Amino acid sequence: MSAFDIAPGAQVCVIGAGLMGAGIAQIAAQAGDAVLLYDKREGAAADALGKLRQQLAKLVERGRMDAAQAEQTLGRIQPAQDLAQAAGCRIVIEAIVEDAAIKHDLLASLEGIVQSGCILASNTSSISITALANGMRHPERLVGMHFFNPVPAMRLVEVVSGLKTDARVAAAVERLGARWGKTPVHARSTPGFIVNRIARPFYAEALNVLTERAAVPADIDRCLRAAGFRMGPCELMDLIGHDTNLAVTRSVFAANYSDRRFGPSLVQQELVDGGLLGRKSGEGFYRYDTQQRIIAPPAPPEPATDWTPPPDGIVLHGQGHFIERLAAQLAATAAHVEHRPGSGWTGIETPQGQLRVTDGRTAAQLAHECRTPCLAVCDLALLSTPGQDAALAWAAANATPAWRAEVPALLRFGGWVPVQTGDVAGLIVARTIAMLINEACDAVLQGVCTEDGADTAMQLGANYPDGPFHWLRHWGAGAVVALLDHLDAHYRGERYRVSPALRTRTYL
Ligand code: NAI
Repeated sequence: MSAFDIAPGAQVCVIGAGLMGAGIAQIAAQAGDAVLLYDKREGAAADALGKLRQQLAKLVERGRMDAAQAEQTLGRIQPAQDLAQAAGCRIVIEAIVEDAAIKHDLLASLEGIVQSGCILASNTSSISITALANGMRHPERLVGMHFFNPVPAMRLVEVVSGLKTDARVAAAVERLGARWGKTPVHARSTPGFIVNRIARPFYAEALNVLTERAAVPADIDRCLRAAGFRMGPCELMDLIGHDTNLAVTRSVFAANYSDRRFGPSLVQQELVDGGLLGRKSGEGFYRYDTQQRIIAPPAPPEPATDWTPPPDGIVLHGQGHFIERLAAQLAATAAHVEHRPGSGWTGIETPQGQLRVTDGRTAAQLAHECRTPCLAVCDLALLSTPGQDAALAWAAANATPAWRAEVPALLRFGGWVPVQTGDVAGLIVARTIAMLINEACDAVLQGVCTEDGADTAMQLGANYPDGPFHWLRHWGAGAVVALLDHLDAHYRGERYRVSPALRTRTYL
């Protein structure tokens, strides 16, 4: 505890009564604090309060909040007519337009109004806290308090320190965030902070697969939902809006001096150029009806071919969920199965051919190197029991027709729904998860956050089913690095370079 700590019932001020400011005011008031809500547009704060009244009334109707609680919450928020009313506040949180010059002006005005112990916090999603603090009389009192949309529902708040931020200010804001019902994760002010940075590959890898025309958006989404993500990257980009998503990508790209790793995609640029912004414009990767539901073409019927394991000659190579699942299914048959856990690859070998879990090499490359046309690759089975729809991508290059026909049947035997894609290196889930892990390792290496912080932030701020370091522990650094090295060799660019922190783990 320090002099900066903000006790329950304290006076706080929120500036900007838009989407985020209204949400911040709501959670502060629900936690018992007195909130002044100021917006430069006349009537905006009162309008936000009116909307909140309607939302809380709905919660009361559904029995999720009692009427007295709703009234108390509303009673604690006062629209302010003048910025000068912030004079007595313990903290002022700005959630105004994302424009550095306008935020600078506001912070300068506030420094002339508030008292010396008052914390100034910014909800900026992309502007450096160090840069915002430059020129302030007391840069040590500025801190980032980055909430996620919708504020009342999303449990994460990134507490962002710039070069000059006083550690006591950041600690007090972390405690305040916790008191307001959020899980605070501390971040150093770097482009994209934690979530917006580590999440880039979730979109970028889907866009790269689309660039190569190796899969359609619906199949990419199915595969990642089956890996436990609530939404696939294409439907999520449609929801966020391609203009917004592209703007964030561009800002992280520019802030990293055009590092190709963060490069924007022409696929997304084309959608923006064409006004196909996603759900809000009625069309993006998908088309939407008037209720903003996806208009999906009917799925083609699944061929119901069965796979009968041959009595002899089946070898399971390597370890992991894919092998465990096949082993369990095969145990219920009369087939004799040999298991070589220490094999140099992971997958299943039958007298007819090999199905290898991707290691970042394409089926064409592997077939060439192994001198066999009876080879196909399948995606990483991230979960022991696949999630929704159990979709698993697979690809073959010049495999014999007999092996091509057998692979989907074999996958169905294992309990997956086979999704054939083009022969893209690292398929869909494997390349995405490997790149999320890689980015998280770089973020920790650069002191942006801790490993636990990265895991918590991605689960609570982006609804990931697990954190990148959890995946890393299960998949193993050696396998992740091997996959990324193969992608790097395949694409020969900066995008797939391995984080030094990740490679170091393979030597430990
Ligand atoms: P918004 O456009 O809904 O609201 C901004 C409000 O600020 C408007 O009501 C506007 O009248 C007011 N405003 C503009 N300049 C002002 C000034 N100088 N003084 C007082 N009020 C002023 O924007 P939104 O989405 O709420 O974003 C606000 C901030 O939160 C931005 O910095 C944004 O980057 C950040 N953010 C947004 C998220 C989102 O999903 N929308 C997520 C996380 C952060």
